[in-house]
Amino acid sequence: MRALQITEYGDNSVLSVTDVLLAAPTGDQVLIDVEAAALNPLDATLRAGYAQALMPLHFPATLGGDVAGVVAAVGPDVTGFAVGDRVYGNAYTLLGGSGAFAERALVPSGNLARIPGDLSFTDAASMPVAGTTAVEAIDHSLKLRPGQKVFISGGSGAVGSAAVQLAKLRGAHVVTTASGDGLDLVRELGADAVFDYTSTDFAEHLRDVDAVLDAVGGASLEKSYGILKRGGTLVTVIGEIDQAKADSLGLTVIRQGAQSDGVLAELTGYLADGAITPRVGCTFPLEEAAAAFAAIESRSVRGKIIVVP
Ligand SMILES: NC(=O)c1ccc[n+]([C@@H]2O[C@H](COP(=O)([O-])OP(=O)(O)OC[C@H]3O[C@@H](n4cnc5c(N)ncnc54)[C@H](OP(=O)(O)O)[C@@H]3O)[C@@H](O)[C@H]2O)c1
Repeated sequence: MRALQITEYGDNSVLSVTDVLLAAPTGDQVLIDVEAAALNPLDATLRAGYAQALMPLHFPATLGGDVAGVVAAVGPDVTGFAVGDRVYGNAYTLLGGSGAFAERALVPSGNLARIPGDLSFTDAASMPVAGTTAVEAIDHSLKLRPGQKVFISGGSGAVGSAAVQLAKLRGAHVVTTASGDGLDLVRELGADAVFDYTSTDFAEHLRDVDAVLDAVGGASLEKSYGILKRGGTLVTVIGEIDQAKADSLGLTVIRQGAQSDGVLAELTGYLADGAITPRVGCTFPLEEAAAAFAAIESRSVRGKIIVVP
């Protein structure tokens, strides 16, 4: 089968579509025929080797995590899935999968769920990483309650747009940041207020916020400490936390990494209800994956970037 592999870290010139032999599924592995896979910012970070100290790849490495397809075979310990099921989930090699950018992928059954209703493969593939990150942040890290005021940085991004929708579902007052056509997007998603980060400093206008979800990092994260009320909670999915600063301000701060068990199932419920809607930007064939990586790195596409094998 064809797979997008790298044998060294580097820029997009290290990407190549290669013929790969995939073993039959063992244990709790599920083999899926991939219909669609999606890019995340992490994929470019992994390819470049920027994360190799914490998340080393073993070469040759098939890239990609977000995946959707049809079950082709199951390992002897798999109970929840059968051949022919439409499934989606996370095929990252770091999490025990064989990589998503390929014609077939082996995925631990715990990283998969059935695609709800008639959601398309491309829409389903666009959601696992960003959607579970948002569900984990809003429901598990922040435990958002009705009437609370939440600031979500990067509400127009993949994580942010799912988080804005879920925060509104929880009855929160949602303030966010975006730029360009992202400003209208977050308003359509239900945000109560939005700051254009290219022209306005949110920190000069916001005070006494109950909760912050930081999906931008850098200066945006640093300024987020100052807008929270004492007793408030800040979760970042990208930056490092400053515990001393949090202690002095009476804040709870969380650096959110992996998601809890069961969060993919929770996301599936929200997708089934239409409470969270996917946003696909464009689609590339596997052979043009380098262009897909270039698009995510240049941030030239609004919505998720899909690769179809
Ligand atoms: N810890 C985890 O488990 C986890 C999981 C998923 C993602 N992440 C990380 O979370 C971050 C967001 O991921 P994503 O998939 O949502 O990315 P994305 O779709 O590319 O969204 C990026 C967001 O950041 C905004 N933005 C870009 N540059 C900015 C700046 N200089 N100042 C303020 N806002 C800016 C964008 O706004 P406009 O497009 O409107 O300009 C957009 O809303 C990434 O760093 C990713 O690696 C972490």
